[in-house]
Order: sequence, then structure tokens, then C-alpha cells
Amino acid sequence: MPRIIAVSNQKGGVGKTTTAVNLATALALEDHTVLLVDLDPQGNASSGLSVPKSEVTIGVADVLLGFRDLPDATVPTCIDGLHLLPATRELIGLEIELVEASRREYRLKRALDAHADGYDFVIIDCPPALNMLTINGLAASNGVLIPVQAEYYAMEGLSELLRAMNQIQKGGLNRKLVREGIVLTMVDRRTRLCRDVADQLREVFGEEVFTTEIPRNIRLGEAPSFGKPVHAYDPLCRGAVAYTNLALEFLARIGKTDEEGDDSKVIELHAVEAS
Ligand SMILES: Nc1ncnc2c1ncn2[C@@H]1O[C@H](COP(=O)(O)OP(=O)(O)O)[C@@H](O)[C@H]1O
Ligand SMILES: [Mg+2]
Repeated sequence: MPRIIAVSNQKGGVGKTTTAVNLATALALEDHTVLLVDLDPQGNASSGLSVPKSEVTIGVADVLLGFRDLPDATVPTCIDGLHLLPATRELIGLEIELVEASRREYRLKRALDAHADGYDFVIIDCPPALNMLTINGLAASNGVLIPVQAEYYAMEGLSELLRAMNQIQKGGLNRKLVREGIVLTMVDRRTRLCRDVADQLREVFGEEVFTTEIPRNIRLGEAPSFGKPVHAYDPLCRGAVAYTNLALEFLARIGKTDEEGDDSKVIELHAVEAS
């Protein structure tokens, strides 16, 4: 089975989609097969890979509702080895449609269990909310990768997410969910605030924060408007290099851990909240 990673933070604009698209791309460029799941009704990961949601006829909503199997809805991308399960317009109303559905928290998990075994990695781009779509993402995942923008309110958003993850574990929706790590995004080390917040996060979360920092880089912001991951838009820019480094650091980390019974990284929420 693939390793399934939710990219999540209920704050908007922190770099979730940028991280999901470009980390997935970097993993594919390292010769892994990757499925990127666009769970955000805004469909930014899909449009960032030249699949605008207005043009998608079969997408993630059809899979979650059980109308279609995963392979019918996935599409190839401009990157070899990277497939996309695109967002569709219907995703907006999905929450309501799922209210009556059985085992509605496990719709994505069920689809991935049935049809994702050919992939090495599944990367899920979650919406900026702790709603049923995000719960589907977290219930289906092995781990959560948390992009954090180094700014004043970063910590606040983070503790909310950690609390939700804790509920998902303790409530039994997904007891094995671990924190895959925290990624600092849009880092500008020239500003004092950014340095302070980054340093504080490293103090509190230690090695959980990836050594690789994603710099603020204009190319990362431009690439989606050309429907490309940054590696296809400007492979030598600082943003592309940073996401490649992030992928390599991530691969090195998981190479060290045992996929099944490793509880050492499981969230210790009390420790987090106390700090
Ligand atoms: N490292 C970066 N440097 C410059 N712009 C970035 C960077 N990361 C993200 N952006 C831009 O910031 C905005 C928000 O990023 P996005 O990944 O869409 O966040 P989220 O998915 O968390 O809402 C987008 O316009 C994106 O292009
Ligand atoms: Mg997004």
C-alpha cells in the first residue's frame, strides 16, 4: 500500500496547495509513483496542474459518493509518474450529500484501500477548514504534513489542528495517524518576525520541523497560473530546489522509520498544549 500523506492546516493561504503540488512533483521526479488528491472545492491543485475544475467531468466527488471508482477519475499530468484525482464543482455541496451516507468519514479511505495500491505515495491537498472533507483526508492518511507560514498567528492555527488530530486519533477514526512533520513556508529570513517565529516553532517542535525551509519565491506563485508545478516552470529557481530538498529530507526520514508499528511520532497533544 502507498504511504498516504494529508497536507493540512485549517488556515488558508499558508502554502498547503503549493506544498502538495510541488512535493508530489518532486517525489515523482525521484522516480516514485504519486497520486495527488485535490480535496479542496477551490480546486487550486487541479488548476495548478492544468486541470481546471470547470472542465472536469469525473472527479473526487464522484469517488467519495461511490458513483465512480478511483481509476475512472484519475488523470495523468505533465509530470511522469504523477497522477491527479481532480476536484469538481460538486465538491462544494458534497458535505450536505454525505450527511446521510454511511461511514461518511471513510469514503476516501475506502477508495484508496480499493484502488491506490499501485502508487508509492498519495498526497492529499486538504481544504482550509476542519470539515467532513478534511476528516476524510485525515481518516485515510498515515500521516499529516503541516505547512506553517512563519508569521505572528502561526502557533494559534497549529494548536487547533493538533487538537483536531488528537480527536481523530482518540475518537478512533484513525488511531495510527501521525504527524509527518511541520514545513515552514514563505520564509523570508531577512525579516525579524519571520526568523523569530521560525525559531520559536523549532524550539517547541524540535526535529518535527523539517530542516528544509521553503523560501518566499515569486516563481512558486507564478507557476500555477501556467498550470505547471514549479519544477516544470523553472526547475532551477529557489522554490523548485527547496521542494526537491523537502522531498529528499522526507524520503530520508521515512526510510528510517518502520511504517507499521512506530508509535514514537504519534502526537503527544498534552505536551504541545502545555507549551
Ligand atoms: N513559498 C512561496 N513563495 C511565494 N508565494 C507562495 C509560496 N507559497 C505559496 N505561495 C502563494 O501564496 C498563495 C497561497 O498559497 P497556497 O499554496 O494556495 O496556500 P493554501 O493552499 O494553504 O491556501 C498562493 O498564491 C501561492 O501561489
Ligand atoms: Mg489550497
